[in-house]
Amino acid sequence: MRIGFFDSGIGGLSVLYEALRQLPCEDYLYYADDANVPYGNKSKEEIRSCVFKAVDFLAKMDIKALVVACNTATSVAIQDIRQKYGFPIIGMEPAVKPAVKSVDGKRVLVFATPLTLCESKFICLLSQVDIHNTVDFLPLQELVTFAEAYQFDRAVIMSYLNGCLKDYDLNQYGAVVLGCTHFPFFKNHIRAFFPKGTVIVDGNRGTVQNLKNMLTYMGKLHEGHGHVEYYRSGHRVIDDHTMERYMQLLKKIDLCG
Ligand code: DGL
Repeated sequence: MRIGFFDSGIGGLSVLYEALRQLPCEDYLYYADDANVPYGNKSKEEIRSCVFKAVDFLAKMDIKALVVACNTATSVAIQDIRQKYGFPIIGMEPAVKPAVKSVDGKRVLVFATPLTLCESKFICLLSQVDIHNTVDFLPLQELVTFAEAYQFDRAVIMSYLNGCLKDYDLNQYGAVVLGCTHFPFFKNHIRAFFPKGTVIVDGNRGTVQNLKNMLTYMGKLHEGHGHVEYYRSGHRVIDDHTMERYMQLLKKIDLCG
């Protein structure tokens, strides 16, 4: 059986990349809801309805587990979908815990969508982890739009980030958390704003580790050959242009390190 991956768009490819690295002997279904992207500035009800539609589609394809490779969808809908479906569902959250542990007295800056940052899931995470009030956060929704438009032009991205970061003293940060799966595509752009020792963390490795633990527990590891079938809002991707872009994006993540 295959493993379902779901995101509002191409962001989840950054998580799929990690899954293909850690779990190459599995087959995958990747679902990008790009008819409805972005999620990050929609209402919770709108997102819930998009998520149910996508997961209903994947559930019909007989998956053994689902990764919600989207922090925003996880914040809003993970409990509801866990109640409805019988397969295990792995969600995502901004990797604040490892970031706080790594900084040694310095501050942590979390980037995510506005919705992730104002949801109770994130507020609750902060109340558990941010004991010494060292975590700041900032929405960078436009990066989702840029990624979906395949806009990676250095001057354009740097100018946007510059506008967002200009009022921050960036030397005080020991770690930056990429709390949206679209953001790893901009890791190199983001890195350029921070001092050399600042670590940039995302939740991708931890999420795939959770998936691996779950499959091991179920006795369902190693059931494939690294094959991926791609879908865009319910339609199978067969055109060369999209396939080529997806391959380029997986490569881009590889180069971002
Ligand atoms: N990639 C998503 C996330 O991790 C959603 C971005 C969006 O659609 O706004 O939050």
